[in-house]
Amino acid sequence: METDLANKTFIVTGANTGIGKITARELAARGAHVILACRNQAKTDAVVDEIRREVPGAQVEYVHLDLGDLASVRSSAAELLARKLPIHGLINNAGLGGQRGQTKDGFEIQFGTNHLGHYLFTRLLLDRIIESGPARIVNVASASHYQARAIDWAVLQQPTKTVTAMREYAVSKLSNVLFTKELARRLEGTQVSTYAVHPGVVATDVWRRVPGPFRWLMKKFMITPERGAESSLRCATDPTLQGESGRYYSVGGKEQRPSKLADDGTLAQTLWTRSAEWTGLPA
Ligand SMILES: NC(=O)c1ccc[n+]([C@@H]2O[C@H](COP(=O)([O-])OP(=O)(O)OC[C@H]3O[C@@H](n4cnc5c(N)ncnc54)[C@H](OP(=O)(O)O)[C@@H]3O)[C@@H](O)[C@H]2O)c1
Repeated sequence: METDLANKTFIVTGANTGIGKITARELAARGAHVILACRNQAKTDAVVDEIRREVPGAQVEYVHLDLGDLASVRSSAAELLARKLPIHGLINNAGLGGQRGQTKDGFEIQFGTNHLGHYLFTRLLLDRIIESGPARIVNVASASHYQARAIDWAVLQQPTKTVTAMREYAVSKLSNVLFTKELARRLEGTQVSTYAVHPGVVATDVWRRVPGPFRWLMKKFMITPERGAESSLRCATDPTLQGESGRYYSVGGKEQRPSKLADDGTLAQTLWTRSAEWTGLPA
């Protein structure tokens, strides 16, 4: 992995806990300027302070971003662009699972947050990322994407249907892999590469909805957030991956074949076009 990231700027979404927090800390430890794009200022300020204590001289800061609110995504991107900073790495890490409901704009909460919020955020920052090339976009997906059997377009603007929300989570993660693929196609000829990753089954707050004793037991068998961050960190920085784009990487950053559906170029283009319509962007 690249060990000297001095003069490089990275944005990590959902960096106030779990895999995102470790990703931000490790990038900062290698000298990168890291922007933690998160929805909770108090939680993120505490993490910024913690990283500054652990990594003397770390350049880390907070920007407000609520991916479940497209207006917040627009103002966050506008704030970042106004700073005139280059963006060498965007790590779309934030995500939720097991929750029921809709985003502020009426999308199923897993799809709206995990895919659509990141889609808009990425597209609004894309020209700056291209200008900053070589640059990378890492989308934190999940092996859960293998469980998605189809995208039912009709239910994406309705509240979560299933009790566990796992079906909706799988569709949101399939969307992360498809977005990575289509983005790579559209970025051909630029110096920007895209990567979809599965971090592993990681002991983080993502399991916060599981009842206490079960959660404790489950977490004993999971990998640590440090190990979970390895796939994002490898895809964001490993020089040997420069030039590879649109692919899927599993635990530790090992390349793997995604599901057949995730490899469907037509589906990836349809998701792009619909996401553009939903977010008011040109296709
Ligand atoms: N843990 C696993 O086993 C596992 C497996 C496969 C994939 N993943 C993926 O890995 C990524 C990181 O997950 P994690 O395990 O580190 O989970 P986590 O500890 O729950 O962290 C998730 C992060 O996403 C943020 N987030 C959620 N909704 C948001 C919103 N509307 N706007 C902005 N930020 C939001 C959370 O912020 P708050 O703290 O404010 O809620 C938190 O910072 C996710 O995309 C997840 O789907 C995790």
